[in-house]
Amino acid sequence: MTIERCRLRIEQPADTDAIYRLITEAFQNEAEAHLVDTMRERGELLISAVAEDAQQQVIGHIAFSPVTVATNPKSLSGVGLAPMAVSPEHQRQGVGSQLIQYGLDRCRELNVDFVVVLGHPEYYPRFGFQVASDCGFENEYGGDDAFMAQELTPGGLFDCNGLVKYCSAFADLE
Ligand SMILES: CC(C)(COP(=O)(O)OP(=O)(O)OC[C@H]1O[C@@H](n2cnc3c(N)ncnc32)[C@H](O)[C@@H]1OP(=O)(O)O)[C@@H](O)C(=O)NCCC(=O)NCCS
Repeated sequence: MTIERCRLRIEQPADTDAIYRLITEAFQNEAEAHLVDTMRERGELLISAVAEDAQQQVIGHIAFSPVTVATNPKSLSGVGLAPMAVSPEHQRQGVGSQLIQYGLDRCRELNVDFVVVLGHPEYYPRFGFQVASDCGFENEYGGDDAFMAQELTPGGLFDCNGLVKYCSAFADLE
């Protein structure tokens, strides 16, 4: 795999149109792009980061938003990684992996206790994710092994269990 060298940074207001176009292109529909806009409008976009190439074009994007868990006696803070997109011509060159590492580092800086993701079960374990049902988590989407979690602080999943719910913008996603 060739590693595409890219710059990673938090989104700026001027990036929003490029992010919308990128996500639409990667998913081949506008639903996830609209989801990111809705999260941004509602203040639910905790972390929104981009990867840009040497020409300063946005070639990748990752979003993290708060989640709630049914049982969470210590009020631990959790986020969901979603959506993530890399432009088709830059996929499978390591851009997505760099975005995940960068995003998880930003989560740690914000003292996020745990992260969940619904995605390819063969992709996310390399970043420290494990099957979320093994931690006692359930999800709204019937993801089974595709629903994964990892703790970012010691004990970040302690006593947390039950249904994980994404922020309100996801309820509008078709
Ligand atoms: C998923 C995505 C963000 C990965 O970004 P990327 O830059 O291509 O990822 P990397 O180069 O870091 O890693 C590539 C690895 O991702 C995994 N992967 C990517 N797409 C995959 C898919 N559709 N099915 C299974 N695994 C996949 C593979 O393990 C691949 O490794 P390989 O090339 O050795 O087989 C990108 O393919 C994308 O934008 N896809 C369309 C949108 C999407 O499905 N987003 C994820 C759900 S929110």
